[in-house]
Amino acid sequence: MADPLTKLAYQTLQQGKGVLGLVHKEASTRLMNLVAPEGAPKTLPVSPEVLRQLRHAMDALHERDWEEAERGTYPASLLFDAPWLDWAARYPLVWLDTPRTWMRRSQRQVRDLPRNIDPSNYPDYYLQNFHHQTDGYLSDHSASLYDLQVEILFNGTADPMRRRILAPLVRGLKAFANRPAAQIRVLDVATGTGRTLRQIRGALPSVQLVGLDLSTAYLRQANQWLSQIPGELPQLVQGNAETMPFANGSVQGITCVFLFHELPAEARQHVINDCYRLLEPGGVLLLADSVQLADSPQFQVVMDNFRRFFHEPYYRDYISDDIDARLAAAGFIAIAAESHFMTRVWSARKPL
Ligand SMILES: C[S@@+](CC[C@H](N)C(=O)[O-])C[C@H]1O[C@@H](n2cnc3c(N)ncnc32)[C@H](O)[C@@H]1O
Repeated sequence: MADPLTKLAYQTLQQGKGVLGLVHKEASTRLMNLVAPEGAPKTLPVSPEVLRQLRHAMDALHERDWEEAERGTYPASLLFDAPWLDWAARYPLVWLDTPRTWMRRSQRQVRDLPRNIDPSNYPDYYLQNFHHQTDGYLSDHSASLYDLQVEILFNGTADPMRRRILAPLVRGLKAFANRPAAQIRVLDVATGTGRTLRQIRGALPSVQLVGLDLSTAYLRQANQWLSQIPGELPQLVQGNAETMPFANGSVQGITCVFLFHELPAEARQHVINDCYRLLEPGGVLLLADSVQLADSPQFQVVMDNFRRFFHEPYYRDYISDDIDARLAAAGFIAIAAESHFMTRVWSARKPL
C-alpha cells in the first residue's frame, strides 16, 4: 500500500476528475450565457486567494483519504472505485438534460415534478426539484444521472468527502467490539443511490447495512449498484428520515451524508431526534454535510454561489445553523466536528 506509484495513480486520478469537473462547468456556463443568458445564475467572482485556499483544502482532503487507506481504515481499492465506463455512457444524458435545467432555472419552476407521483406520500419541503434537477428526486431518470452530476459538482471529491465518516464510525463502533460484526447494524439515512453504503461496506465488510431514503427511484438505483459489490446486500427501506420505521435502540451506528442542507430547520431537528431514538445506548451518529459560515468563513463566497447556481431553498438557513446545539438538545454527548474541503463531519454518541 505504501507504494509511491499507487499514490501517484490516486493523485493523478483525482486531478483528472477535478479537471473534468472544471471543464464541464466552464463549458456549460459559457453555453448557457450564449444560448439562454436570462437563465444564467448571477454568481459572485471568486478571488485568487480563495481559489488558492480551496486548492489547498482539496489537496489536504486527498492526503487524508490516502493516509486513512494506508492505515487500513478502508481498502485502497475504494480510492479507485469509480464506474468510468458507466459515467462515460451517461455523460451525454447530462448534456441532453441541461437545457431543461436552464429552462426551469430561468422560469423558477421549482415544483416541476413527475405527474404520476402521489404528493401525499412526501413532506411538502421535499416536493421540489433541488438543484433544478429534472424530476427532483422522484424518477429513475434523475436517479440514473445523480452520481455523475455530484461528481461533476464536487470536481471528483464526493467520495473522498463521504469517506471522512469512516474513521470515526469504525472508532465509534469499537464500543460494541465484544459482539460479532454480523450483529452490528449501521443505518445510512438518506442513502440516495447508496454511495455512502458502498464506502461503509469497504471499511466494515461484515456488519449489517441498512439504507433509508424517501425516493423509491433512488433506492432502485442503489439496489442496482450495491448488488454488484461483495458481501450481504444492504437492506433498503423507503421512509421519511424524520420518523423512521425502525425500533428504538435497534442500530449501533448511523450515518447521514448531504441531507441536512436540503431540510428546513425543524426537519433537521426531527431527524437528529429520530436518530437518537434508533441508536442503542453507546451508539454513534456521523453527520456529513456542507461546511458552514462559522467554521469556514473564508469560503462564504463559494457557499453563496452554490445557492445562487442551484435551487437549494434551505441552504442559506443551514449554513448558519448550530448543529452542535441540535445534537446536544436531542441528548447526544461527545459531540465533535471537523471540516474536510467543503464538508463538515459531526460525530456524536448516545450516552450509556
Ligand atoms: C443530496 S442527496 C444525498 C444522497 C446520499 N446520501 C449521497 O451522499 O449522495 C439527498 C437525499 O436525501 C433524500 N431525502 C431528502 N429528504 C428526505 C427525508 N425527509 N427522508 C429521507 N430521505 C430524504 C433524497 O431523496 C436524496 O436521496
